[in-house]
Amino acid sequence: MPSTLDEQLTKYLTDVHSIEEQALQQLRTAPKIAGDPELARAFSEHLTETEDHERRVRQRLEARGADPSKTKDLVARAGGVGMLLFAWSQPDTPGKLTAHAFSYEHMEVAAYDLLASVADRAGDRETAEMARSIREEESAMAARLAASFNRAVDASPDSELTSYLADAHAIEGQAIELLEKGQGIAGQSELAHVFANHLDETRSHQAIMQARLEEHDSSPSRLKEAALRVGGLNMGAFFGLQPDTPAKLAGFAFAFEHLEIAAYELLRRAAARSGDSETARVAERIIGDERAAAAAIHAQFDAAMDATLAVQGVA
Ligand SMILES: [Fe+2]
Ligand SMILES: [Fe+2]
Ligand SMILES: [Fe+2]
Repeated sequence: MPSTLDEQLTKYLTDVHSIEEQALQQLRTAPKIAGDPELARAFSEHLTETEDHERRVRQRLEARGADPSKTKDLVARAGGVGMLLFAWSQPDTPGKLTAHAFSYEHMEVAAYDLLASVADRAGDRETAEMARSIREEESAMAARLAASFNRAVDASPDSELTSYLADAHAIEGQAIELLEKGQGIAGQSELAHVFANHLDETRSHQAIMQARLEEHDSSPSRLKEAALRVGGLNMGAFFGLQPDTPAKLAGFAFAFEHLEIAAYELLRRAAARSGDSETARVAERIIGDERAAAAAIHAQFDAAMDATLAVQGVA
């Protein structure tokens, strides 16, 4: 179905608006489960910033003559993205909460990068500038969370090393599914190559986690339990709702890589804490692979946006 660049820009603004509303909900409860005063303060401060983001995005929508309440179907659809990302497990420990939040901030970074890119193409300088300025605050919050991984592990004293290993194993299972399905959506593109290359790495990461779990003689039920929890992410629903947008796929994959980065950052610290230097060593190596994959995906944002707009018949 052909559409105009203006319509697409309004759609991306609407998506970003619903991502901010989702963030508001999450940030209101996050300080209560942070388990650490400094972490709690980071969430509280970002709540204030997020209220400002929501307002600024809403004003841009209104300035463009779009009434957020009239685009409810779009809101519901975009809301699904944030909802599903957070549904991978109930963040019941400070560690998981921090990993979620770190990934979510990167989803926002991706969403604002994509918004800026559409706004540039549509010649809407005000929206492009707003997107770049909010993006910096999301990125700064992500950096504050990255600086809190130690605190998050310390604030989760009951989490055993095997549960961090089982989580990493389960997340890799979801990553395999994402990358396999993603290749189809990415079509004949560099993004598809990036996914294919990382798929091989991802399978080897999962095998490494399996081996570390066996080394710790962990029960298969623990693995199953972790897989079920992560299964809440429900990739099938996500892809069913977003069938034709390489741009959103790239953004989601970028956020997902950061969920993996966070999982291994926590694992590395938990391993060091319990004296398992081999697990700490492999976690550090895998973090390098995940970071490289995230950067490679990010480098494809513009091309993915071109492909998306072409599919949508935007002149
Ligand atoms: Fe935000
Ligand atoms: Fe944020
Ligand atoms: Fe990955």
